[in-house]
Amino acid sequence: MKPFIFEFPQPSPLGQSILQELGGEEGKMVVRSFPDKESYLRVFSLVKEREVIIHASLFPSNEHALPLLFLCEALRDQGAKRIGLLIPYLPYMRQDKIFHPGEALTSKTFASLLSAYTDYIITVDPHLHRYHSLHEIYSIPSYVVKAAPLISQWILENVKDPFLIGPDQESEQWVKEIAKDLPYLVLQKVRNGDQAVEISWPAGVAIGKRTPVLVDDIISSGVTMVEALKHLQSQGTRPPLCVTIHPLFVENAYQKLLNMGAQGVISCNSLPHFSNQIDLAPLLASTLKTIVKEEE
Ligand code: R5P
Repeated sequence: MKPFIFEFPQPSPLGQSILQELGGEEGKMVVRSFPDKESYLRVFSLVKEREVIIHASLFPSNEHALPLLFLCEALRDQGAKRIGLLIPYLPYMRQDKIFHPGEALTSKTFASLLSAYTDYIITVDPHLHRYHSLHEIYSIPSYVVKAAPLISQWILENVKDPFLIGPDQESEQWVKEIAKDLPYLVLQKVRNGDQAVEISWPAGVAIGKRTPVLVDDIISSGVTMVEALKHLQSQGTRPPLCVTIHPLFVENAYQKLLNMGAQGVISCNSLPHFSNQIDLAPLLASTLKTIVKEEE
């Protein structure tokens, strides 16, 4: 029987493509806020003994996290056979260490919650930095899809003489994989605050006439990309491109990058944004097909 796919909190182009490619049945539900901002949620589809997949676009994370758990519980109460969570952008992964005494290790708490309410998760390039694998914090099966081959292909098809740049050490894992045989460079970053970073460029390294392509897993406030763009501006390079897997673009981050000389800002559709040019749907649908089969 076809799996149900619930689009949470609302339908998105990515979810609709996956639904079609997978041949799933769209789950019907309503989620809304009461005047006092508490959530109301109701599932209409008959999910008893059915395979259920929730495609969650969890941004802003805090706004949607609790209603997502309500959805899981409602599906469970109505007898869903299994609840898989397709969560292309996995929030809270950057809080992977207690940096100062007394801080909450939110990555772990968030993982415990999702592990308690769902049966497995599928995500795209989670921010694995101090953790080496999701298994360290998720107690349910987790599947990681990598966007690197799609990004490589996009760059090869759209950029003349690319030179890839990772703005910080953490980005090396993505940049290296995306670059394959292309030249790349990884910069050093020191973070002094939520919107304050310092990025250093290695002495004596120039990228000449190539097109700089800055690659990072997440663009949030945009400050990391802006600081890297400043270096390129001072070198008088060709207009750079910025590419990201997870386009959070808090406030006017997207515009800030264009103002700082980026000729374009490109993203994967892990979260819906008008910069989405790299489609994850085929990859996610084929991964889901395998998982649903395996779990049958
Ligand atoms: C952390 O190291 C991530 O890879 C990104 O570099 C970071 O989340 C970007 O955040 P922002 O856009 O706020 O600098």
